[in-house]
Amino acid sequence: MTSSSSSADVPSMGRRQFMNLLTFGTATGVAAAALYPVVNYFIPPSSGGKGGGLIAKDKLGNDIVASEFVASHNPGDRVLAQGFKGDPTYIIVENDGAIAEYGLNAVCTHLGCVVPWNAANNKFMCPCHGSQYDNTGKVVRGPAPLSLALVHATVEDDKIVFTPWTETDFRTGEDPYWV
Ligand code: FES
Repeated sequence: MTSSSSSADVPSMGRRQFMNLLTFGTATGVAAAALYPVVNYFIPPSSGGKGGGLIAKDKLGNDIVASEFVASHNPGDRVLAQGFKGDPTYIIVENDGAIAEYGLNAVCTHLGCVVPWNAANNKFMCPCHGSQYDNTGKVVRGPAPLSLALVHATVEDDKIVFTPWTETDFRTGEDPYWV
């Protein structure tokens, strides 16, 4: 009977529409930002790497594949990914083309703007109030009071995995302020 089959279709239609929303809704940055917690909620297992790490994700929330990333970026690039708590986090391509063993939280330590990489000046330069950080994220000009926070970045199963940086800050020789 048609009525029973149509009622059985309701949940699958709803799911399909939801998946369409996920697929097409991420076309804009605003939608991506709004959906990120939703996506995270539905796929928690894929967000974890071994040992409590977090797999770096692209702006659409997809796992970044290390081999594809290396093939599509140049030495010296700093590339934004989603890190802990959804914070924008830079993956760094070393001068030899390898992925650096550290990443940088891109949130300015002054008032929280996302700090762009300026390749021409070999610095991170905050557009909000002029703070600058060198190519390792060490603050070199205020008003930012602190360097960009570090995370470890490793490659596991061809995914880039962030883990918390709890050791001495190699740029300052000081204990990390972010843990
Ligand atoms: Fe970056 Fe103020 S938020 S300088």
